[in-house]
Amino acid sequence: MSFSIERYKEESKKLDTTGLDWNQVTAHSLSKGDLFCLHYMMDIENHVPLYLSHLLVTRACMDPILTAFLACWNYEELWHGENIGKFLNLYGIEFDTQDRIANVRANLGVQNSLSLLATMTGSWLLKDFSAVYLSIGAINELSTLTGYGALIRKSGHPVLRDLLGRIIKDERRHFAFYFNSAKEWLAGNEKAQRMDRWMLDRVWVPVGQGVKKQEEVDALAMYLFDDEQGEEELLDLDAKIGKLPGLAGIKLMSKALYGARERARRNPGWAWRLIESEAWAIAPPKKSPIGQLTTRRQSQEVAP
Ligand SMILES: [Fe+2]
Ligand SMILES: [Fe+2]
Repeated sequence: MSFSIERYKEESKKLDTTGLDWNQVTAHSLSKGDLFCLHYMMDIENHVPLYLSHLLVTRACMDPILTAFLACWNYEELWHGENIGKFLNLYGIEFDTQDRIANVRANLGVQNSLSLLATMTGSWLLKDFSAVYLSIGAINELSTLTGYGALIRKSGHPVLRDLLGRIIKDERRHFAFYFNSAKEWLAGNEKAQRMDRWMLDRVWVPVGQGVKKQEEVDALAMYLFDDEQGEEELLDLDAKIGKLPGLAGIKLMSKALYGARERARRNPGWAWRLIESEAWAIAPPKKSPIGQLTTRRQSQEVAP
């Protein structure tokens, strides 16, 4: 798997949706599970600028190749979120994208700032901390594209297949970059390998956790991967990440699935009740209205 930053910079662009049959979005139905996953995925795609803020406070930002990648990556991810939002709106689910994004961010609270500070401190104290971030990037991109593949399979919706198929191509390039960069950092560097493994075994969480609650993460995992093929795909994913120096045999996404199954076994209704009750709305923040948070004020009243 090769990756050329020069080629990536030349070729990086907004998701091309030319010829996508938007008119046919409502011609095929989606299950509650499909809709739950699409909302989750859209929110996480739209959250990328905040993930970017974490990467930019690590030492990794000293590397101009990494920052060139991040500049393009962030732009591409923006269009993933936009297009999933457009798909949902066309399907008949109404929400204002900007309000939804602002609400997701406002609900993060002080936790986000604390984790930013911890990342910054960790990175400046530990030279090899970036290896952890690059490995996490590789895992996140690979789980994202595996999740899209599973949703294509579960939904059987032809327009969604076309849209997600195009997004998957971007995610593959993102994975290649993070994987190769992590490999470069880790190769021949046992100290970095030990730290990477230690951190991944203890602090790694599936993509979206933190923005989403444990039960929401479990609902996504159970809907997409709780069957033979799904489990196999996650084991395969772990095996790919296990090819990074020092990570042989690591269990991440499969462990997350087994954890979700265990919680569902212990709590009847766990995870599935969110899907059943269509719990994908984002509650507005308790304290500050969006206008205060974003400096945008309420849109002017329209005369009757
Ligand atoms: Fe994406
Ligand atoms: Fe991506």
